[in-house]
Formats: sequence, C-alpha cells, structure tokens
Amino acid sequence: MKLLSFMIALLLVTHNALAAPLAAFNSKTALCFGCHGSTGISDNSFHPILAGQKKSYLIKQLTDFKTARRQEEHMSSMVKALNAADINDIAAYFSGQSRKRAQANRLSNAAGKQLYFKIISAETNLSCSSCHGIDGSGDAMTAAPIIAAQHANYLIKTLKDFRSHQRHNDPDDAMRMMTEHLTDSEIEILADFISTMR
Ligand code: HEC
Ligand code: HEC
Repeated sequence: MKLLSFMIALLLVTHNALAAPLAAFNSKTALCFGCHGSTGISDNSFHPILAGQKKSYLIKQLTDFKTARRQEEHMSSMVKALNAADINDIAAYFSGQSRKRAQANRLSNAAGKQLYFKIISAETNLSCSSCHGIDGSGDAMTAAPIIAAQHANYLIKTLKDFRSHQRHNDPDDAMRMMTEHLTDSEIEILADFISTMR
C-alpha cells in the first residue's frame, strides 16, 4: 500500500513537472514572436531567423546570452526570465520549424561563392565551407550552426561583431580567427551569398 501511494505521488510530481514548463513556454515565447516571428522567420532583417536552426546551437546561444558570454541589448534582457527547461522547450520549438521562405529570384553571386569556398586562414587552412558545409547546413563536429538562408543584414552584423571581438562566444576563437582578415566588402559579399544558399 505504501508503495502504491508512493507511485501515485511520483506520477503526480512527474505530471506537474511536465505541465509547468509548457505553460511557461507559451507566455514566454509570445515575447520572442514579436521579433523573431511566430515560426522563427523574422521580418526585420537584423533579427536572426531561428526556424530550423540546430537545437544545440539555440540552447548554447540562449545560455550564452544568459551568462553574458554573448551580449546584445535586446537579447540580454529577454533571457533573464528563462530557466534551463524554458530554454530547452524554446530551442526545440524553433528548431522544429521550417526554414524555407519565399524569396525573389536573385542574380547568382559568383564572387561570394568563391570566397565561401576559399582557404581564408593560412594558419588553419580552412574555408567557411570546412565547418559550415558546402550548403551552409553546419556541422556537428565543430558545432558550426546552419547559416544558409539567414538574413544578410544580420550576417553582416554578426560577422563584423566577431571581427571586432564584440561577439566572442565562438568555441576556440574559430570565428574571430576566420573574420580577422576579411574586409567590409568581403563580409558583405559573403553575407549576400550565404543568405541565398538553400
Ligand atoms: C526586441 C527584439 C527581440 C526579442 C523580443 C527577442 N529577440 Fe532574440 N534576437 C534579437 C536580436 C536583435 C538578435 C541578434 C543579436 C546580435 O546581433 O548579436 C537576437 C538573437 C537571438 C538568438 C541568436 C540567434 C543566432 O543565430 O545566433 C536567439 C537564439 C534568440 N534571439 C532567441 C530569442 C528568444 C528565445 C526570444 C524570446 C524569449 C527572443 N529571442 C526575443 C531580437 C529579439
Ligand atoms: C573552424 C570552424 C569554422 C570555420 C572555418 C568557420 N566557422 Fe562560422 N562558426 C563556427 C562555429 C563553431 C560557430 C558558432 C559560434 C557560437 O557558438 O557562437 C560559427 C558561427 C558563425 C556565424 C554566426 C551564425 C549565427 O546565427 O549567429 C556565422 C554567420 C558564420 N559562422 C559564418 C562563417 C563564415 C562566413 C566563415 C568563413 C569566413 C566561417 N563561418 C568559418 C565555426 C566555423
């Protein structure tokens, strides 16, 4: 009998533990939708697209914002109210959304493509494609995120932030090293190409 009531108590606890974060998730994600869109496709091109991004990368970024390893005025205040369970739920939600979006046909950017596959860093013998893949879909080994189909304006901003070390949450300085020798116009050409990758 003791065992039975213990089991019932355990069931109740588990049930509540599941129900609580889900309710929190609904009210807390409503905030995110305003800037990132309800399916993670943002209208404002400085608000990154989250749809279809790797769950592990989203968790890392939200945790980095929370611990101030990554700092940005909008996001640093946004993550304050989120706990680890919220972060997990939110990351699962956005990573499960489709990244496909309508876009007008664009001229192909041959210079951007060439730069994307070019060995940029002589020290490391790496190109962007070495870690982010030939289609911009990222790589689990190096923890490189999906960058294909991201807004060009956000890409330009974040690449410049890596270059100036304003953003410094990249493992092993990978992105700070890769952007070190890029000029503004190379960053713009690269961003334009990456935003059109599918
Ligand atoms: C007021 C607008 C705004 C709101 C609200 C907002 N964000 Fe953001 N978010 C941004 C901006 C701007 C950036 C880009 C930060 C930068 O430039 O470094 C960003 C970046 C991010 C990133 C990093 C994406 C990447 O590709 O590295 C994640 C993840 C994210 N937001 C999730 C959320 C979640 C989850 C919420 C809700 C709790 C939220 N955001 C609410 C504006 C907002
Ligand atoms: C050695 C592997 C490596 C190489 C080479 C590399 N990256 Fe990255 N990149 C990463 C990792 C890892 C991250 C995630 C950093 C973090 O956790 O915040 C990242 C992040 C990014 C981001 C931020 C994505 C976002 O949503 O905020 C962009 C954009 C990017 N890389 C573009 C590039 C470009 C362009 C090149 C070539 C100039 C390049 N990367 C080369 C590993 C690499």
